[in-house]
Amino acid sequence: MIIKSAEFVKSSSKWQDSPEGDIPEYAFIGRSNVGKSSLINALTLRNSLAKTSSTPGKTQLINHFIINKEWFLTDLPGYGYAKVSKTEREKFSKLITSYIKNRESLTNLFMLIDSRHEPLKNDLEFIQFLGESAVPFSLVFTKVDKVNQKDFNHNQKEYRKVLLQQWEDLPPIFITSSTQKIGREELLSYIQDINFNLKKNIV
Ligand code: GTP
Ligand code: MG
Repeated sequence: MIIKSAEFVKSSSKWQDSPEGDIPEYAFIGRSNVGKSSLINALTLRNSLAKTSSTPGKTQLINHFIINKEWFLTDLPGYGYAKVSKTEREKFSKLITSYIKNRESLTNLFMLIDSRHEPLKNDLEFIQFLGESAVPFSLVFTKVDKVNQKDFNHNQKEYRKVLLQQWEDLPPIFITSSTQKIGREELLSYIQDINFNLKKNIV
């Protein structure tokens, strides 16, 4: 897919304030600092479309971007940032879960996971929640440039093993690095195929 345009639409503090528009929407979700905003910039080849930071907890609102005037790309706040208060963490968690439960135009969620770690409790809990919600989702391993092959293989194997204990099938899996632009074409093709099929069904 060629990105002809990528524009910021708005920031919202709750799902009810999100932009209207009956167009497909793809949202990025995952722990704070996992690389959601960076991946949005890598996909769109716009370095500062989404705000990134080395300090976790940067994205605190729901940010909508419109791509090629055809589909929304949504940057959600991260979960699980240990350094904010429990009340704040719960507020973000509620914001994210109510968004996923209520946003009807959500076409696919990309659940981002840091390639450097073995399965983490809060990521597994979140995948469980996604599996139980009706929204299709895919797993996206991030920052693959920061891990050696041996550790990466090990972490992947562990993830697949743990997930297959719960689920019959695995969701689609993407391996990415925003700095190296790894996995960019695969993600964009995946989105393009879904958009194409949606259009075909409408016409
Ligand atoms: P919150 O908004 O706080 O939830 O974080 P986020 O998930 O949006 O993460 P963000 O994109 O802001 O990235 C966090 C940090 O990781 C930044 O310092 C990025 O430069 C770095 N980072 C993100 N993706 C990659 C990657 O693929 N490779 C490397 N080496 N660093 C990355
Ligand atoms: Mg962010």
